[in-house]
Amino acid sequence: MLVNDKHLTTIWYEHKSDKVKIIDQRLIPFEVKIVELNTVDEVCFAIKEMQVRGAPLIGVTAAFGMYIASKENTSLDYLKKASDRLNKTRPTAVNLSWALNEVMTKIAGLNQDKISIKILEIANQIRQDDISNCKKIGEYGCEVIKKIYNKTNKPVNILTHCNAGWLATVDWGTALAPVFVANKNNIPVHVWVDETRPRNQGFSLTAWELLNENIKNSLIVDNVGGHLMQHNKIDLCITGTDRTASNGDVCNKIGTYLKALAAFDNNVPFYVSAPISSIDFNIEDGVRDIPIEERNSDEVSHINGIDENNHLKKLKIVPKGATCVNYAFDVTPAKYITKLITEKGIIDANSISIKKLNEKSLE
Ligand code: MRU
Repeated sequence: MLVNDKHLTTIWYEHKSDKVKIIDQRLIPFEVKIVELNTVDEVCFAIKEMQVRGAPLIGVTAAFGMYIASKENTSLDYLKKASDRLNKTRPTAVNLSWALNEVMTKIAGLNQDKISIKILEIANQIRQDDISNCKKIGEYGCEVIKKIYNKTNKPVNILTHCNAGWLATVDWGTALAPVFVANKNNIPVHVWVDETRPRNQGFSLTAWELLNENIKNSLIVDNVGGHLMQHNKIDLCITGTDRTASNGDVCNKIGTYLKALAAFDNNVPFYVSAPISSIDFNIEDGVRDIPIEERNSDEVSHINGIDENNHLKKLKIVPKGATCVNYAFDVTPAKYITKLITEKGIIDANSISIKKLNEKSLE
């Protein structure tokens, strides 16, 4: 997608320098800084500290992390340890273990001198597939937006939570992909962007992406959505997911569940966009079994921003001695989800449809 009219992706391999490069998302929207990843330690740091974030992008980064590990040492023992370390960086997004598993399975039995080249090939393929899957999600999701537009003949108002745009993937995004495709097809859209405390991915990342693509949007604090739905100001909600269980329960950024409840109460369709790599076919009950990341309480007690001299500042906003708790995700039960938008089409959020999708993905 575009940044100052130039096309950028979130991660790429530069052949001439043999380097993996990312955008440090901790600095957006104030600065676009490109960073090299040179060691497994740096890759672990990048995922854990959220230089890269968003379920699909975490997976792609881990795959390139395995290439970096293989440049350090090609023994299977070393690679297995690197994969275990990468896998522990963030617990909720299943794309992480999915991508590591793809790499480890595909290199099993290979000669040591072929391993590095093979891992690079796998990582590049995972990256490329992520781009095409997200584009497909955008095309399917655009049909949903188009149907609403054809009925109302008015700009379609879409609410989204957190950032499930291109910054959360390699390009296009999941929840925002339908919005980008609709915009390219001249379907008028307006996006309500949830702030998404504590890290404010809505304000800092989603708003920045939409502004760069010239898409109309309004920023709202996290508790506004219910009010807007009661007053018919939202036509549909679209979010992403970090892990969807085989019963259709969806785990996504904290606060998604409350938006889904409000949408259900107000008959607003609630769609969740995700590549199949975000589905955990081994988890039967998402509310019960999806691991929920708890992050540093600093993210709750402090807020980042720039002052009038453009200096990045971290400000404390709670009383001295306050106890802050930071659950990063919640699970929305399948009954509140209208449909799932995947690269293989739009399906019901239930075990029968998800089982069929799994069979299709293995074809
Ligand atoms: O903590 P983050 O910023 O990694 O959380 C991201 C989200 O919750 C996204 O909605 C999710 O990963 C889907 S991304 C396409």
